[in-house]
Amino acid sequence: MTSGDTTSSASEINPRLISLVGLLSDGMVHSGVDLAATLGVSRTTVHKLVRSLGELGLEAFSLRSRGYRLSKPVKLLNESEIRSAIDMATQLSVEKLHLVSWLDSTNDYLIDSLSGHGPPDPGRFRVCVADMQTRGRGRRGRSWVSPFGQNVYLSVMFEFPHEITRLSGFSLATSLAVTRACEKLGLQGVGVKWPNDLMFQDRKLGGVLTEIRGESTSISHVIVGIGVNLQMPPESARLINQNVAALQELGLPISRRNEFVGTLLGCLIMLIKEFVAGSFESFRMEWQGRNALLDRRVEVQTLRGIAQGIVKGVSDNGSLVLQTVTGEVSVTQGEVHVLA
Ligand code: BTN
Repeated sequence: MTSGDTTSSASEINPRLISLVGLLSDGMVHSGVDLAATLGVSRTTVHKLVRSLGELGLEAFSLRSRGYRLSKPVKLLNESEIRSAIDMATQLSVEKLHLVSWLDSTNDYLIDSLSGHGPPDPGRFRVCVADMQTRGRGRRGRSWVSPFGQNVYLSVMFEFPHEITRLSGFSLATSLAVTRACEKLGLQGVGVKWPNDLMFQDRKLGGVLTEIRGESTSISHVIVGIGVNLQMPPESARLINQNVAALQELGLPISRRNEFVGTLLGCLIMLIKEFVAGSFESFRMEWQGRNALLDRRVEVQTLRGIAQGIVKGVSDNGSLVLQTVTGEVSVTQGEVHVLA
């Protein structure tokens, strides 16, 4: 695991703080004396470190004369646990799996790697997964709240060997990697919301941010960044201006975080290969089957104004199809708000 030694400029986090989280990650009580001895610091330093856990979006209880305990257990990324959830053929197509303790954004990490290491070879995937993002990015310039060791922040970069126009519907398709991974692990009820939100019971469970680089020729490099909430601490949830869901509610304990990362990565790489060989058309029925807004009345803020209607599905190129008072309308971009 790399820790902060990235090509991007993540703000500094004390490495001892990360070591402390590693020791406390089991959710058990650890005495100040033991923690100080293991970390090679004084008890006062341990106390100060515990007080700065908030920098990672974590909280610990101080239990008088007994020690410290995290308010919730966390699970750190582990390469062998991740790899054991991915089949060998898929693993062989991973050019490099970068596991990073903290960084700005996993998408930015991969974009920055283009200048240092060049692009991944055709047909291979460069992957970055982080325990925490200090500047996680969402769609439409929003930030993505990314506390330490609790959720999934994963990005994959690959070469897209066709004209850029053949990418239409790609980001919709990628959200199916999350529904497939959940279904593979027996987690039911995850839906997709156009264009690429993951939903559970009308609350946001995750999202996808797709970016493209080097589109001057017919070859471009695509970066797919996926964020999925596994266990969202209340202090982080408060920073988000919408209702959120987490896979823990569906029965996935945080102890299975690495298994989920590996399963998701396997599903994503498989899906990208399918898309590169075909188009969104072959994913359309699967997407419709998981459409969280089917037959719901919505309002879409588009560049040309507001469209209102009933969601009927998506077209072969990934546009949202609405039944409006004036007939069927296809929306290519915008923000969807549910009215009823
Ligand atoms: C959205 O707004 O719904 C998209 C959120 C995408 C978040 C993920 S987390 C991993 C990757 N790195 C980022 O900075 N953003 C994406």
